[in-house]
Amino acid sequence: MRSYLGTTLKAVAVLAATASFAAAEDVEVLHWWTSGGEAAALNVLKQDLEAQGVGWLDMPVAGGSGVQAMTVLRARVTSGNAPTAVQMLGFDVLDWAKEGALANLNDIAAEGGWDAVVPGPLQAFTKYDGTWIASPVNVHSTNWVWANKALLDELGIAQPTNWDEFIAALDTVKASGKVALAHGGQPWQDGTVFEAVLMATGGPEFYKAALIDLDPEALGSDTMKEVFDRMTILRGYYDDNFSGRDWNLASAMVINGDAAFQMMGDWAKGEFLNAGKVPDVDFLCFRFPGTQDQVTFNSDVFAMFKQGDTVSEGQAALAKAIMSPEFQVAFNKVKGSVPARTDVDGSELDACGQKAMAELKAANDSGNLFGSMAHGYAVPAAVKNAIFDVVTAQLNGEYDSETAVSELVSAVEISQ
Ligand code: GAL
Repeated sequence: MRSYLGTTLKAVAVLAATASFAAAEDVEVLHWWTSGGEAAALNVLKQDLEAQGVGWLDMPVAGGSGVQAMTVLRARVTSGNAPTAVQMLGFDVLDWAKEGALANLNDIAAEGGWDAVVPGPLQAFTKYDGTWIASPVNVHSTNWVWANKALLDELGIAQPTNWDEFIAALDTVKASGKVALAHGGQPWQDGTVFEAVLMATGGPEFYKAALIDLDPEALGSDTMKEVFDRMTILRGYYDDNFSGRDWNLASAMVINGDAAFQMMGDWAKGEFLNAGKVPDVDFLCFRFPGTQDQVTFNSDVFAMFKQGDTVSEGQAALAKAIMSPEFQVAFNKVKGSVPARTDVDGSELDACGQKAMAELKAANDSGNLFGSMAHGYAVPAAVKNAIFDVVTAQLNGEYDSETAVSELVSAVEISQ
């Protein structure tokens, strides 16, 4: 009897321990933050949650911009085994919300006053039919150039402010024997360059007409032909091994002084910081020449997949942690992005971060803030991928500019 009681008490103790563990609950997080800078930023989030007693089951799927992660997600959901929380971009979030797969975060959002602090252009992707369906962790922008300062100084190159100056700078670097433009030939990276070149060539109204409104006239215009011509010109400054290269390896070429410039979103800054580099001292960040007044943005958000009727405690803890003002600053300092809240003090951010915040605000105020096509904030994935196909084929010499323009018009039409 005594020993039976002893066993029972032990079992109760074990149960209690399990219960308190279960109350804190694990979250399984599917994400694509596997580069050095990305992983460092992810750690800030992981540690924040672990400090709250929430266990983190890591589900990393390597591949810039989440291309592979979204394929894995689809497979997991189809087999009835959706991860608890998933990093996502723009239109993908809306697509999953449409399918009814995402948990309703309205109570958490109301408690945290999210409506008042998340910028309007972002709420268009974090709310669906008036329901909060994702927590935004940052705002990135894509129309940046990253430069090795010592190399520019050595070659007497000033920061270029327009296309011609940029080309002159690239010529100087090329003549020195260094790689002028570090690039990774993957469709999403080609697309990232394409949208910046398009903005610089046609201006903000053209960007909106072509990449947001998908106006066939803009897509088929002479301006678009010039965009493709310029893509070919830029290709002439890539090294021979650019095909298939990951974006962070291209960043490393600039960090190490093997290359002068990289055109990439500000997650690239995370790589520079992770390598101990300092903005304005070791590297420069500036808008793609000709897009100084415009910002093309994207934001990483976390959506919670429905596990039952309500959000689980782990999901609620994650959604809340992401939106904490202190966390937003701590995380974005490492990630290269800026906070997704309008009410946080950005003074702790480095020089590039301060610039990013000020330019984002100015672009929003002047009507020059646009969703990034290449990063899911301008058009649904099917259209984005159709555009990528044409851009990559043209870049690789399969189409001349004129053919690329007509292919673009038909690819976009078919994909809608
Ligand atoms: C972007 C994402 C960034 C960064 C980048 C490269 O789409 O917003 O957080 O991860 O892809 O992977």
